[in-house]
Formats: sequence, structure tokens, C-alpha cells
Amino acid sequence: MEYQLKEASGKLGILLPGLGAVATTLIAGVESIKKGFSQPVGSLSQMGRIRLGKRTENRHPLIKDFVPLADLNNIAFGGWDVYADNVFEAAVKARVLEPMLLHAIKPELEALKPMKAVFDKAYARNLDGEHVKQGADKMELAQALMEDIRSFKQENGCDRLVMVWCGSTEIYIEESEVHRSVAAFEQGLLDNDPAIAPSMIYAYAAIKMGVPFANGAPNLTVDIPALVELAREHGVAVSGKDFKTGQTLMKTILAPGLHARALGVRGWFSSNILGNRDGYVLDHPENFKTKEVSKLSVLDEIFRPGSNPELYGDMYHKVRINYYPPHGDNKESWDNIDIFGWLGYQMQIKINFLCRDSILAAPLVLDLALFTDLAQRAGMSGIQEWLSFYYKSPQTAEGLAPEHDIFKQLMKLQNTLRHMMGEDLITHLGLDYYQELVDTL
Ligand SMILES: NC(=O)c1ccc[n+]([C@@H]2O[C@H](COP(=O)([O-])OP(=O)(O)OC[C@H]3O[C@@H](n4cnc5c(N)ncnc54)[C@H](O)[C@@H]3O)[C@@H](O)[C@H]2O)c1
Repeated sequence: MEYQLKEASGKLGILLPGLGAVATTLIAGVESIKKGFSQPVGSLSQMGRIRLGKRTENRHPLIKDFVPLADLNNIAFGGWDVYADNVFEAAVKARVLEPMLLHAIKPELEALKPMKAVFDKAYARNLDGEHVKQGADKMELAQALMEDIRSFKQENGCDRLVMVWCGSTEIYIEESEVHRSVAAFEQGLLDNDPAIAPSMIYAYAAIKMGVPFANGAPNLTVDIPALVELAREHGVAVSGKDFKTGQTLMKTILAPGLHARALGVRGWFSSNILGNRDGYVLDHPENFKTKEVSKLSVLDEIFRPGSNPELYGDMYHKVRINYYPPHGDNKESWDNIDIFGWLGYQMQIKINFLCRDSILAAPLVLDLALFTDLAQRAGMSGIQEWLSFYYKSPQTAEGLAPEHDIFKQLMKLQNTLRHMMGEDLITHLGLDYYQELVDTL
């Protein structure tokens, strides 16, 4: 595959359905970084380096200097929400960032007002916002979103756009007939089919407008054949699902290590408390189910109990999320891991992560927006599996098992960047360094 990378000239518009804790922490963060108040910590695209060539060449450029990414000074933000609060008000309510920081960038944040959302209370029962579009059917709502996209692009003088879903987690639904083809989906939009979730309407509108789409929540959204087909037809990059932060990040760092050392696991109990709006939405069992399915998939893929029954065949995995308002966005998680080693002797690992949900998620949204825009400029359409690094439940082609091991995901991402830029891929084989030695044997 040869990629003809277009330069990142002009302005990139980042459109965010859902201007809650994560989205406002991203926007406020970028404004603060632009003013030199803060550093983009946690963003691989901004602070991460990539090795090029052989280890002896000592080439480790910053990723943002290696691939042509949009510059933070050339970004315009926009979005939709079911509440009419501007980004300053929403960020204050989210209580993630300190008031002093928010006040220093108040004019920039106040200027960002959400567009009216496409919303259906059946998909997020604990929300009751009224800043919502009305339409005769779901097709009309999709067209209204396309109109929003058009006007945003024009008013902000954007050259390119990308959309990242930062809206609440929707209730659990499974793929059904209306999701299986573009024709069925479009008929479903006209028929107001209840199985078409609001997030799918945003994704449909984006793809139709040639705007690449990334999904930060565990909802199906773009992970249905109809929208994958539409993305291919329109040459648009898509990816999902569910930002990998907090507990799942820890899981996909630790589990590959245990697996690598052939240590057994009998049980992994994960519990969380959080008190932000996300936690409130997830307090509803049907919304929690969507998250639970996403969180549970991780360990099975890493340990593969079917092919490793002695070590992982009896593993019991349980995930709980409890809404606890006093903690706000500062999620606390506990993991109890029962492992066993040589001759079956038992050991335990306990993790108590006092994290900040949106602080971990915001840089992922930035990276996803920048890399998705890069993919689009490289002509890479359809599912972007190389962005699995950012997701709890990576979207893959049908029949292809997702990769959850964060280290393999990173290698895949870095090799994709090397591949795009015509650099040698790195396999970490390393025998060539010893070739002289091998030749003399
Ligand atoms: N913070 C994390 O670490 C993390 C990790 C993984 C996934 N996520 C997911 O990211 C999403 C955002 O998280 P958050 O903490 O910002 O939640 P949040 O509740 O603070 O923000 C979500 C916003 O989306 C809005 N919304 C809901 N439905 C909408 C619709 N149809 N159109 C437009 N806006 C809509 C809500 O009004 C709310 O303001 C959630 O789905 C969450 O599960 C977050």
C-alpha cells in the first residue's frame, strides 16, 4: 500500500457531540496549552517519540514532528449537547479543572455554545436536557446535523473536519436488521426505527459529509455494517469504541505482563466509584450494560482461556461501577487479582487507582482527532484498526478478533505511522546487530 499524504494545511474543525466533562476538559486543555500555561501530558501525538531506523542511528523524533499533524493553533472546536450551557459553564459544572485555570481562558470557552442535539431519552434515561432538535423523522434530524456541519465549516473557515463522539453512553442494543445495510439503515431513518440510536444519526451525518468519525463511548454507533459500508463508499475513516482510560488502561498494561510470564489468573474483580454525569448515566442498568460488555471483553482477548485452559480456563471476571456523587470526576477503582505461579502457588495483586477520568480521557480525544484527520489525508478509509491503542473495545473488520494488549496496539500504531512515511517497519528482532558475531560462528 502506498499512501499519498496530503499536508495538514489550513484549519481543522473538531466536532464533538456531547460537551460534558471529557470534551470541555479537552477544549480547555488545548486553550491552556496554546497560551503556554500547561503541557499536553498524556497525548502521544504531542509528547510521544518514535524510534526510526536501527537502534544505532539514535533517531527518536517527536511524533508530531515526524508525521504531518494539524497544529494546535490551527484547530476550531464545535459541538452539540442536550444542555444549552456554553463550554465555560459546562466545564465549571463538570468540576474537573480548577476555576483559576478556567477563568484564564474564559472568553475562549464562553464563545463556544453547543448546537442543539439529536437526542432520544430512551437511549439515556437519566438525562433530561431540552436543547434538542425537532424533526418529522430521523432522516430529517440527520439532515439538520449535516446543515450544522456545513455552517460550522464555513463560519470557522475550516479546511477539514473530524467528529469524535463524547456524548453519554447509550443503552445496550445489539445489531439488528436495520443496521445491516445502507439501504435498510436509510429506510430506518425515514421510518423512525427505534433501533437507530442518536449516536448513529451523528455518525451517518458525518460520513455523508465526508467527515471521519471516532467513537469514544461503548455504544455500537459506527460499529455496524451499514455505517462501515457507507464509510467505505464515501472514503471516510472511522473507528471506535470507548476511550481506554482508568481501570481498563491498567488492565491492558498488567494482563499482558502476567500472560507473558505464563502466570495463571483465577479471578479479577474490578470495582469503581465515580460521581460525574457519566457515572449518573451509567447508574441506569441498561446504560451500564453497554459499558460492562465493553469492559469485560478485554481480559478474554489477552488471556485466551480457550487456548490456555490450565492458566486461565477458570478465570472469574467481574466489573462493577457505582455512582458516588462525592467523588465527582475523581474515579476510584479497586482491582483484586488472584494469580498463581510455579506449582499452582497462589498470590494476590491489589490495585487502588485514584484517577481523574477526564484528565485521562482528554488527551485521547485530541490524539484520535489528529490521527483520524491524518488517516483521512492519507486516503485510509473504513475501520482504522491501528487506533485500537485508544479504545477499550476496538472496532475491527467482521471476523477479526480485536487486539487488546496495549504494547501490541502501540507497535501497530507506530508501525502504521512508519509505513505512512515510508520508513522501515520495526520488528524488534534485532539479530542484525549480531550478524557479525553470527557470521564468525
Ligand atoms: N472519562 C473517561 O475516562 C471515559 C472513558 C471511556 C469512555 N468515556 C465515555 O465518554 C463519554 C463522555 O464522558 P463524560 O465524562 O464527558 O460524560 P458527561 O456526562 O460529562 O458528558 C456527556 C455529555 O453528552 C451529552 N449528551 C448525551 N446525549 C447526547 C446526544 N445525543 N447529543 C449530544 N449530546 C449528548 C450530555 O448532556 C453530556 O453533557 C461517555 O459516553 C463516557 O462513557 C469516558
